[in-house]
Amino acid sequence: MKILSIETSCDDTGISILDVKGGIKNASFKVLANNVSSQIDVHIPYGGVYPALAKREHTKNLPFVLEKTLKESKLEKKEKPVDAIAVTYGPGLEITLWTGITFAQELAKKWNVPVIPVNHMEGHMFSIFGKGKGKFKIPAIKTPILSLLVSGGHTELVLMKKWMQYERIGETVDDAVGEAFDKVARTLGLPYPGGPQISKLAEQERKCAPTPGVGEFSDTRCRGKFVLPRPMLYSKNFDFSYSGLKTAVLYLVRDLGGIDKINETTKAQIALEFENAAIECLVYKTVKAIEKYKIKTLIVAGGVSANNHLKKEIQKISKNKVKLFFPLQELTGDNSLMIGIAGYLNYIKNKKKTPKPNSIKAAGNLRL
Ligand code: KG4
Ligand code: ZN
Repeated sequence: MKILSIETSCDDTGISILDVKGGIKNASFKVLANNVSSQIDVHIPYGGVYPALAKREHTKNLPFVLEKTLKESKLEKKEKPVDAIAVTYGPGLEITLWTGITFAQELAKKWNVPVIPVNHMEGHMFSIFGKGKGKFKIPAIKTPILSLLVSGGHTELVLMKKWMQYERIGETVDDAVGEAFDKVARTLGLPYPGGPQISKLAEQERKCAPTPGVGEFSDTRCRGKFVLPRPMLYSKNFDFSYSGLKTAVLYLVRDLGGIDKINETTKAQIALEFENAAIECLVYKTVKAIEKYKIKTLIVAGGVSANNHLKKEIQKISKNKVKLFFPLQELTGDNSLMIGIAGYLNYIKNKKKTPKPNSIKAAGNLRL
């Protein structure tokens, strides 16, 4: 069957078409088209996503992205080009989720096809199977599975004892890790979205940081220059906290005389220590959860899974312990391909039962 999928939960307008077959554990996918229109340039002047503008941009972009996607799939002349529509209904910005949902509802009526509501975080989780083009399959995957989901709005550890049955074992008690990256970037005078910017600065600085046992680094300017807290690192649960870390950077910058008094090297040193602290908390709790639940498979997904330091640290701890999955770089951020994958798997899981299209509502705080 062919599934058209729509993603509008934040600032990316995504539409894909997948040709899919198979069951819940051996589904195979062929990408007919996969398009995303990013709004980053529109939001940069505001230093973050401006919801009303995001809604306007989605409304403007959706028809164009659809036309392009149908053309690329060579389905534009068909009366009923696809068999179902998958759409993100939460979590995310309600105002932008609605643009995708109403668009899906209109298309469903026109084509007389069902609508599959999809949880954005489940989409991120299944992004690990995807490819931007070509074919891919759901591989055999051993349970228990642990997912570390890290994005601009979420920081969660989700346990799957059985395939597609979720138990959230930990989450942030305040800010999400991606949000902390974005806010710290703003404090350091870096443009939105902050994650990649902080990460770039930290990577440069890490090159000059001493590597234990190597000793070839004579430049010690960044050695222990700043120390930031690792909130909740040793708490007995699997929760995270990023608000205090973000505020610690704010105070540090203030104590150094404000952003205008800080040179580029100092900025990079702060970025490095912030990244080290933020990632250490994620990795430490993930290790603890792997041990406690005897995890066989680890999934890391969401926008922050693009972070190189996170990837390296997770690779270190998972060696010989768990089978590790990260999404391809192009699928770490928001995209509709992952919504198509999650949509199909849910369609099969629910024995092809779907709600009445017009009963689907945006759920900004939807949880797994
Ligand atoms: O999943 P996503 O694209 O959107 C949400 O669902 O929120 O995640 C976006 C988040 C932003 O906070 C962005 O700064 C962060 O992912 N991000 C990164 C990196 N690339 C994107 N954070 C750290 N390092 C990166 N390389
Ligand atoms: Zn996302």
